[in-house]
Amino acid sequence: MNIIEIENLTKRFKNNVALDNVSLTIRKGEVFGLLGPNGAGKTTLIRLLIGLIKPTSGTARIQYDGLGPFDIKKDMMKIRQKASLLPQEAEVYENLTAKENIMYYGQIYGNMPNGEVHQRTEDLIDMIGLRGRENDVTKEFSGGMKRKVLVARALVMDPDLIFLDEPTTGIDILGARTVRNLIKRLAKELHKTVILTTHDLTEVEELCDRVGILVKGKLAAIGTPDELEEQFTQAHLEDVFIGLTTGEGVLEGDLPTKPKRGVISRLLRRR
Ligand SMILES: Nc1ncnc2c1ncn2[C@@H]1O[C@H](COP(=O)(O)OP(=O)(O)OP(=O)(O)O)[C@@H](O)[C@H]1O
Ligand SMILES: [Mg+2]
Repeated sequence: MNIIEIENLTKRFKNNVALDNVSLTIRKGEVFGLLGPNGAGKTTLIRLLIGLIKPTSGTARIQYDGLGPFDIKKDMMKIRQKASLLPQEAEVYENLTAKENIMYYGQIYGNMPNGEVHQRTEDLIDMIGLRGRENDVTKEFSGGMKRKVLVARALVMDPDLIFLDEPTTGIDILGARTVRNLIKRLAKELHKTVILTTHDLTEVEELCDRVGILVKGKLAAIGTPDELEEQFTQAHLEDVFIGLTTGEGVLEGDLPTKPKRGVISRLLRRR
């Protein structure tokens, strides 16, 4: 089942076309990665899909199990009932503790009894690795710790559709692994749909079922990481990305045959 169907979506800011006639579908239960250089339109697409900004033209529909379809232009409140966003530039409430930050969000958006919000908050504190610091005010937290609070905050309402705009940016290696494992569990065990942006291609290889590469607001390529490497005859997703974003097209790869997936990940990790 498609949870999102995007049709000819365009967003213009004055003379600047941030998103240019993008059409794509997202399937329920997949982890979809949005890639692209700075300013490519990734955050704009996410903001449009969750109804924070309105498109200049085109539209998208969101359909949950037995609910919808909802139009992003007019059904923002209905979409938000089961969708959650970790914004790229989000901030914690610095005078609240980690636990209060997460619980507060659950009480506003959760649409669930207080006891359940409390239980989910406790579970998320463990899952994200903040146990022991949960009762400290977050103004005493490091940048990465604040980001972890924000990831937990985005999940407390138990959304079906989760937008994570650079979830692991600023989080240390171990913390990023924790967040990635959490994302995997959300999709594979709980059948949530996750749409994430990242500049980390190792993360993409590890997490994403499919990726879309945006270049100057246009969808330049879409597919599984393996399909993209094959389609552009490159051994590494990074080379596909560089070819598409430099505007020079994708050059033939040096390697005559495509190495196995594990080899690609190891090569990428070594950099
Ligand atoms: N509120 C706004 N007003 C005017 N222009 C905007 C606004 N938001 C985004 N833009 C422009 O839209 C384009 C796409 O921006 P967007 O934030 O979607 O990029 P991005 O792909 O998320 O980049 P990054 O990787 O840096 O986060 C940029 O040229 C940006 O300047
Ligand atoms: Mg962005």
